[in-house]
Amino acid sequence: MNGFPAREIRSYARRERPLGDAAKAARERLWGRLAIADHEWHRLGEGSREVVLDIGFGDGESLLTLAAGDSARDYVGVEVYRAGLVKVLRGIEQAGLANVRVIEADVQVLLRQIPDGRIGAVQVFFPDPWPKTRHHKRRLVQSPFLREVARILRPGGVLHMATDWAPYADAMLEAASSVPALTLGEEGRGARPWTRFERRGLRLGQAARDLRFTKRGGAT
Ligand SMILES: C[S@@+](CC[C@H](N)C(=O)[O-])C[C@H]1O[C@@H](n2cnc3c(N)ncnc32)[C@H](O)[C@@H]1O
Repeated sequence: MNGFPAREIRSYARRERPLGDAAKAARERLWGRLAIADHEWHRLGEGSREVVLDIGFGDGESLLTLAAGDSARDYVGVEVYRAGLVKVLRGIEQAGLANVRVIEADVQVLLRQIPDGRIGAVQVFFPDPWPKTRHHKRRLVQSPFLREVARILRPGGVLHMATDWAPYADAMLEAASSVPALTLGEEGRGARPWTRFERRGLRLGQAARDLRFTKRGGAT
């Protein structure tokens, strides 16, 4: 098994340049210590510490900032973008963070390996919006994805999504309405850090919308 599906529709475009020598060297040096291999995925969240899963962390700005301020929880980031993965490996090393690890995979493949109710929180910040109608099928956040996220969340666990593409936010709400295990909470960014990407969007008039859901079954 590996972390990439053979034929499924992909929510990402694979158009990456090869890593440069310095990035390759950093990857080789840090991968064994900081990446979670596929045979370990089924063990995610089995310990006593709560796990936060960051899906599609990009350059990892939010992931590293949140993890640095939240040492009581473990952060696991999943990405397909190799340059982003290396950036985060370096960021973890530079900041001396002990609570962040990464997974290189299509999250659709990863989710299937995680047992029910193991994850404390899932964050999906600015998933690729795929604005053209003919590309909507490539959007990550659709009902089957949300059902899988609800399955791996512990009761009372939180799913936090953010997008600056208004029609995608509507589509997320619509998709979530067919997942009874998820209850919509109040909107608002909460602790989500400001990133360069989001500031640039805001300057172009694209304000982000944050949607938060709770997995049913937690204490009320
Ligand atoms: C627009 S970027 C957002 C990055 C980051 N979360 C942020 O807030 O800046 C979306 C990221 O999701 C990743 N991605 C898309 N589909 C994915 C998948 N199926 N599995 C893992 N990562 C995925 C892409 O590689 C990309 O880096």
